[in-house]
Amino acid sequence: MIALKEVSKFYPPTARGAKPVLAVDHVSAEIEEGEFVCIVGPSGCGKTTVLNMVAGFESVSQGEILVGGKLVSKPGPERAVVFQQPSLLPWMTVFDNIGFGLTLQEGRKTRQRDKVAQMIETMGLGGFEGHFPYQLSGGMQQRAAIARALITEPEILLMDEPFGALDAQTRADMQKFLLAVWERLRPTVLFITHDVEESIVLADRVIVMTPRPGRIAETIDIGLGRPRNWDMILSPEFLRYKKEVLTILRPPRDASQNAG
Ligand SMILES: Nc1ncnc2c1ncn2[C@@H]1O[C@H](COP(=O)(O)OP(=O)(O)O)[C@@H](O)[C@H]1O
Ligand SMILES: [Mg+2]
Repeated sequence: MIALKEVSKFYPPTARGAKPVLAVDHVSAEIEEGEFVCIVGPSGCGKTTVLNMVAGFESVSQGEILVGGKLVSKPGPERAVVFQQPSLLPWMTVFDNIGFGLTLQEGRKTRQRDKVAQMIETMGLGGFEGHFPYQLSGGMQQRAAIARALITEPEILLMDEPFGALDAQTRADMQKFLLAVWERLRPTVLFITHDVEESIVLADRVIVMTPRPGRIAETIDIGLGRPRNWDMILSPEFLRYKKEVLTILRPPRDASQNAG
């Protein structure tokens, strides 16, 4: 569904005489239809850059990205994006925010209203359809933003640290919630996070990136069953994955000495 082939990204120099910034260095990855893949890595390693290139917001400097076999050159309706800050229109109600994409897409009013109402139920926003974004908690705002992304039934959901701004409890609720929605609708998900536990809880596969310039250090298949169960976080299997990812992110000292 998504294929990155030897993708690199240079940003232009930020100061005169400075060198271009290599943000992403020869990243290759394939994401299957319906798969849930997380990219985890330290801040500044190029995660957002990768997502923005897949979304078509940023150009690729080298290599290529294919979505559904087609070269990505601009954003498209089959790729919905959810950002860390919920991107709702402040002057529109929850209902209108969620229906916004539909209004632009097609013209049949009643069927659309049914669809929005159904999405509001799915997202646990029943009773809040007439509220404005500022009247919602952070978690609800993000649910509305996810609803808006999903309403057009995109094949691909691109998420850039969507729960990064939420408190721990809301964040855990949102993770459960996202998994439940994903199991129902089965979009292909590329989910960016710097939170190792979050990546393991959510993903079929975790792609671990190195600090800048961002490269793929390793890809780890997460063999935990589905539906995921939050008690798993304490299981030896989960902790093994966590240790595996953390060891890649922060290699033990003697390993680097051996390498050096
Ligand atoms: N528009 C830009 N212009 C110049 N440098 C950028 C730009 N966007 C990101 N960078 C740099 O590219 C690197 C990767 O950034 P980013 O993709 O945002 O990382 P992450 O999302 O993993 O924190 C960082 O060093 C950042 O400073
Ligand atoms: Mg980022």
